Amino acid sequence: MCGIVGYLGKPDRAYDVLIRGLKRLEYRGYDSAGVALVTDDGTLNVHKAQGKVSNLEQKASLGDTRGALGIAHTRWATHGEPNDINAHPHVSQSGDLALVHNGTIENYSVLKQALIEHGYEFKSETDTEVLVQLIDYIHRNNHCSLEEAVREALLQVEGAYAIAVVERGNPDRLVVARKSSPLVIGVGDGETFIASDGTPIVGYTDKVIYLKDNEMAVIERDKPLRIVAIDSNAPSEIDIQELKLSVAQLEKGGYDTFMLKEIFEQPETLRDCLRGRIASDGRVVLMGVEMNKDKFLNAKRITLVACGTSWHAALIGKRLLQDFCKIPVEVEYASEFRYGNPVLDDKDIVIAISQSGETADTLAAIQLARQKGAFVYGVSNVVGASIPRNTDSGTYIHVGPEIGVASTKAFTGQLTVLTLLALAIGQLRGAITKEQVKQVTDALKEIPETIEETLKVNDKVEDLSKIFTYAHNFLYLGRGYNYPTALEGALKLKEISYIHAEGYPAAEMKHGPIALIDAEMPSVIIAPSDSLYDKIISNVQQVKSRGGAVVAIVSKGNHSMEDIADHCIEIPAVPECLTPIIASIPLQLMAYYIAVNKGKNVDQPRNLAKSVTVE
Ligand code: M6R
Repeated sequence: MCGIVGYLGKPDRAYDVLIRGLKRLEYRGYDSAGVALVTDDGTLNVHKAQGKVSNLEQKASLGDTRGALGIAHTRWATHGEPNDINAHPHVSQSGDLALVHNGTIENYSVLKQALIEHGYEFKSETDTEVLVQLIDYIHRNNHCSLEEAVREALLQVEGAYAIAVVERGNPDRLVVARKSSPLVIGVGDGETFIASDGTPIVGYTDKVIYLKDNEMAVIERDKPLRIVAIDSNAPSEIDIQELKLSVAQLEKGGYDTFMLKEIFEQPETLRDCLRGRIASDGRVVLMGVEMNKDKFLNAKRITLVACGTSWHAALIGKRLLQDFCKIPVEVEYASEFRYGNPVLDDKDIVIAISQSGETADTLAAIQLARQKGAFVYGVSNVVGASIPRNTDSGTYIHVGPEIGVASTKAFTGQLTVLTLLALAIGQLRGAITKEQVKQVTDALKEIPETIEETLKVNDKVEDLSKIFTYAHNFLYLGRGYNYPTALEGALKLKEISYIHAEGYPAAEMKHGPIALIDAEMPSVIIAPSDSLYDKIISNVQQVKSRGGAVVAIVSKGNHSMEDIADHCIEIPAVPECLTPIIASIPLQLMAYYIAVNKGKNVDQPRNLAKSVTVE
């Protein structure tokens, strides 16, 4: 978590670049923000503020913001509460060094104790301050260069980090390093940018270098960029890649919020997701599967690992893989899998699903799976992120940057790719007929238009949301393919409106949660006309007979629910395996409007961050 930005380049340009960059990275955390600038005469000026980047801007504008070199940070608090003191950049006791950090220094208390014994005093409660003091201590005692001090310090550190360091008195040098937290270097004309991802860099340059794990880079004015391995100091190859991102993709495009924009973008994003992946005869073509046929043919089991919304997509992926590939499938939270001693060998396939491609638990899970010999396949959105770079193969969902903290278009993109993946593996293993594949791909090709149609429920959902805005609890129920859709609907509501909501398999409700139902507790029931429709009808009756209000998501043209449920929202009919994609649209809108009615910041809900790069 946390976002970092750095700049070395043109006179007095650093501050603007850093503030703009921080605003783009606010999705990674918004507990506090800070900037450190080195002026041309070597003065180090640091500004910090609790809360959003706009608070920092107000505060910093009263001070000195000159300089062609600077680093900046937006924080998601891990060690120490969100306040000005714990905000980054942290400055060493000597006042010589300033550092920003994304990640966690696990052995910080041991290092801190040793530094205290050497006379260091600490102002903040953060792990990061320990690192800057350690670098300072080595720098002074070993009389070495900043670069050497950073490297020496990092050799003593356990944990995850992406860091950037500047030095008072040196307006021409920026030192950065990474381990398990992402860092991108943008190579411009006479200027260099560094950031946690490409979003602060886009618009300045499209030439980027993704720093690899355990590498550090020394960026100096008028000198070639140097990248070395932290452990050996051996020079690394410099691989400049194209940043495939546009500024327009990062703006709200006329919508009030990123979340609403991203909900309404789904027809287009799924068009991009499907492009080139369905052949004219209806077959699915996924390069990641084509190039690893033997792995998919010989697999004896598939395990899906993910967190949050991506884990809900994984649960639906399990159904898809079981139905189309007839192969045993398991789903695990990445955080449980990594510590659960999984039994894996080279006949196992692990599919890791992650929008950001940076989620720490998912990254650790895939590293473990690879160590144990499994073939690891990634389903990610952010091109070039750590997960796609640490998997054996994979498929991007290609839905464009998702800025709203609540995942929407990434979820439907993940479901689309998982459907394609299950079909591709199923057709390869001969577990599904050509006709069956074509039946699903024909419907998939229409999915962008089907979502356009579905989005017409917007006004109805907005009206309905007014009835339920002040409920304190919600139940979301679904069966089969739509049990995970219910979990996802509940998560959306919880994270942006702060209303307690539980997702449940509809039939399980009678084994406990039914006790909660009364007139104050509405249930949202996902009931498309699928193979379990008749079963879910009885579950709706059970809620109704306890006095609970029911909002039912039903297939267009099915009027049989109208007499039972209080409100029906109609969605277009699609094959059963695609109903979660369509049914999730009204659930996203419902959560959105309830949160807006309550005056909540839907793009940046409290306590959350978009990318969870800490354990
Ligand atoms: O980037 P990832 O898909 O790995 O992120 C996983 C979760 O942190 C994420 O889905 C989270 O649950 C979202 N806020 C849900 O809207």
